[in-house]
Amino acid sequence: MSATNQMTAPRPADEFVRDLLRVPAQERAALILGRLREELAGLVNVRPEALQAASPIPRIRLADGSLTVHPQALQVLQTALHRSLRVQIYLQELNALATLGQLVAYLAPEFEAPPATGGAPEIRPWPHPWSGSVGGPPVSNVALILSSPRSGSTLLRAMLHGHPRLFAPPELNLMAFETMGQRAHWFSERGCGWLAKGLVTALAAAHRMPEAAARDQIRQWETTDTPVIDVYRSLVAGCGPALLVDKSPLYATHDGCILSALAHFENVRLIHLVRHPHAVIESLVRMRFARVYAQGWPGWSPSPWRYADNVWWQANENIRTLLEQAPPGSQCTVRFEDLLARPAEVAADVCRHLGVDYHPGVLTPYDGNRLASTGASAGPTLGDPNFLQHGRIESERATEWRTIRLPFPMTTHTRELAARFGYDPV
Ligand code: A3P
Repeated sequence: MSATNQMTAPRPADEFVRDLLRVPAQERAALILGRLREELAGLVNVRPEALQAASPIPRIRLADGSLTVHPQALQVLQTALHRSLRVQIYLQELNALATLGQLVAYLAPEFEAPPATGGAPEIRPWPHPWSGSVGGPPVSNVALILSSPRSGSTLLRAMLHGHPRLFAPPELNLMAFETMGQRAHWFSERGCGWLAKGLVTALAAAHRMPEAAARDQIRQWETTDTPVIDVYRSLVAGCGPALLVDKSPLYATHDGCILSALAHFENVRLIHLVRHPHAVIESLVRMRFARVYAQGWPGWSPSPWRYADNVWWQANENIRTLLEQAPPGSQCTVRFEDLLARPAEVAADVCRHLGVDYHPGVLTPYDGNRLASTGASAGPTLGDPNFLQHGRIESERATEWRTIRLPFPMTTHTRELAARFGYDPV
């Protein structure tokens, strides 16, 4: 008989997480270890007693001599953590942890109840506003998808990239900076160089050049501190006559990026993509953005739930208020749930807004080369790391947010803003 068969069914993960959030910090690690051992024992068919805090996380040696977590162990641990705690763990994190006990100690602080809310977080001024003194005349033929992270932006981008008149590469993360030197410095200071990967893919595709040549070109732009607006100019020239669609959730974090767009792009088309905060908060917590991507970023909180609420509110409030300053007709709002439920109709509306005829290629986001990141290169994946696991537009997920039970109520300001986008009160 397998170890799983001998055990009573474990508490559902949502209830277990609620328990964790209630117990004192010193009890939490033991609870997590116990639950994780049970899940792992079932998956690898051993008795839970065989797995101890000191049990090593198996590794293999790569061709270059470095050690990495064994692919099977990675898969088993990811499954066990998803089943027990509803969270994702990443290879780069596991590579830094030697034993089960270390893994548990690493994760336990994330299950602290959030502090009482002190009202809406402030939207900080962007530390790199464009002075406007560099870069020459405005650029035309650019559209922006503005959204909080986890709002379905990778899917919308891949859909639009299927249109022959649209060029929608992985996130460029350009407009947040005035110059390429500033951009490179900001990424390296925060250890998030992976945010620069999308520009490499985009430049290579726009100019039909090898990625190595694109990387060289970007390095040269960084060394000469080329204005970012000139990089847009190069991309637009390369992908012309297609419209360049830049989806970069980074632009919604502060107030400066959207204003830069309004000042430096001519006739820019703006798409505000919103998703129900229940779904975004659940997704941000499950993907562990607070820990993996965002320490020191606006709205950051050690509580993943509070951070996720902050992110949704900040991004959407920021976009909403700044778009009030955009010319009428330059913007449209797309609800992700509508896109999932009625993809043809919503995609047709988006095409109209972008000034292109409808094309059926927008309904087959998994066909052909949509410049999807495979995650094969080092560091975190750009865009939704699970995008390729879907294979089709999953319309049935349009109402999923209704079934999500967050362990904490959303803040009042988030609830109120959601109502402005027509979402039912929850
Ligand atoms: P979940 O984490 O709730 O699953 P973004 O690209 O802005 O980061 O958004 C990611 C969200 O879009 C994820 O939500 C992901 O599942 C969802 N998504 C991506 N591709 C999808 C598809 N083909 N059908 C339905 N949802 C999809």
